[in-house]
Amino acid sequence: MSKQNVSGLYDQLSSMEHLIKSASTYPIHKRLNFASEPSNDIYEWIVNVIGLPNQGLIIDAGCGTGWGCQFISKHSKAAILGVSLSEQEIELADKALKTNENTLKNIHFKQQSFDELATDSADLIIAVESIKHSQDIRLSIENMLAALRPNGKLIIVDDFYCEQTFSQDATQYMQDWHLYEMLSVQHIQALKNSLIPIKIPPQIFDHTFKMHIPMRAWSSMKTFVCNAILRFRKNDLALRAFKGGFILDKLYAEQKMKYLAVVLVRQ
Ligand SMILES: C[S@@+](CC[C@H](N)C(=O)[O-])C[C@H]1O[C@@H](n2cnc3c(N)ncnc32)[C@H](O)[C@@H]1O
Repeated sequence: MSKQNVSGLYDQLSSMEHLIKSASTYPIHKRLNFASEPSNDIYEWIVNVIGLPNQGLIIDAGCGTGWGCQFISKHSKAAILGVSLSEQEIELADKALKTNENTLKNIHFKQQSFDELATDSADLIIAVESIKHSQDIRLSIENMLAALRPNGKLIIVDDFYCEQTFSQDATQYMQDWHLYEMLSVQHIQALKNSLIPIKIPPQIFDHTFKMHIPMRAWSSMKTFVCNAILRFRKNDLALRAFKGGFILDKLYAEQKMKYLAVVLVRQ
């Protein structure tokens, strides 16, 4: 599968979703229940618990239509760069910037891979549900660490696979979401031999228990219906992605996935 599949997937998803969502920018990540914590969203949790630099550069690596960058800009005076592979997402993100030009001066968006960030440029890189799409996750983490300045932070929030073997569901989920490999804690553990020195051990926060995980049977039924429709709509990337989402719910229900936030600090 090529890089074009990832951009094609998010081009299609954003073309569809911005028609049904009221704002042109919207979060494209899991809704969590933070209960008594003073956060309503994972980006807000990052602001409240990890904190943002107030100068230098913050990069949202895989920025969707720019919701996260807009949120961050309310809490930091740093320059903010959002990058995404999807041309359509960057168009929507730029459109929203134009309508709020006066308040969002410190944000820029670019259609670019997170593997091609300038070295030694960022003080914080946030990758929410994006790194799982990498062709080579280990290399992408190294590339992002290299893009940090000394003491800069990389925050990865994503679905981490907890099994050693691949079930049929896991394989199908990877295909539907255009994944080359499954992100796992082993990718993080391997960083003790990283080319870019980081502070060891990395901080890991488990947010899985904050998710709403539907019952396995309900997710199986929704997967079945999607499969039936896909017989007639083979090239519908968005529908395949929805199906992949239902399979992912199933993997969570079977406790084969964890939703983790990993904080890496460059030395
Ligand atoms: C699930 S969305 C998350 C968007 C945003 N972080 C959020 O939480 O609202 C994944 C994003 O990662 C982007 N992405 C995937 N692979 C990428 C890459 N190699 N470089 C840059 N962006 C990438 C997609 O285009 C999409 O914008």
